Amino acid sequence: MIIHVNGKDHELDIPGNTSLLDVLRVHLNLTGSKYGCGEGACGACKVLVDGNAIPSCITLVANVQNKEIVTIEGLERDGELHPVQQTFLEEDAFQCAYCSSGMIISAAALKSKNPSPTRQEIIEAMQRNICRCCIYPRIIKAIEKA
Ligand code: FES
Ligand code: FES
Repeated sequence: MIIHVNGKDHELDIPGNTSLLDVLRVHLNLTGSKYGCGEGACGACKVLVDGNAIPSCITLVANVQNKEIVTIEGLERDGELHPVQQTFLEEDAFQCAYCSSGMIISAAALKSKNPSPTRQEIIEAMQRNICRCCIYPRIIKAIEKA
């Protein structure tokens, strides 16, 4: 099967019931997306699929053929960080950073649909992303600033 990731086609000889997260991390060596809960609850593994932030741990690779997949590694453009990546750095919105990739992906999806979300809209959009270090205030500030 062929999947389209970060602007490139990848031909893979793997079972269609392989999780997208395994494909990204093991087969394509794109390790920015993290394995947390493995059941769609924490958001650490989120990637963009046709512009929507989805948990790659519970997404079968067969279901994302012919779709545009973007991982944290593919968010920058022409050497420029995505605005959300930039403001996460500026606001120090990391502690252990295990959640950061998924947080940034969710925030990027939100910003692409709603460039100036209210604080409440940010909180609602980030509901399915968990930060065990509990640095939510810095994360929300970074998203507001982006
Ligand atoms: S590892 Fe996928 S949602 Fe937690
Ligand atoms: S910074 Fe550690 S889980 Fe969020």
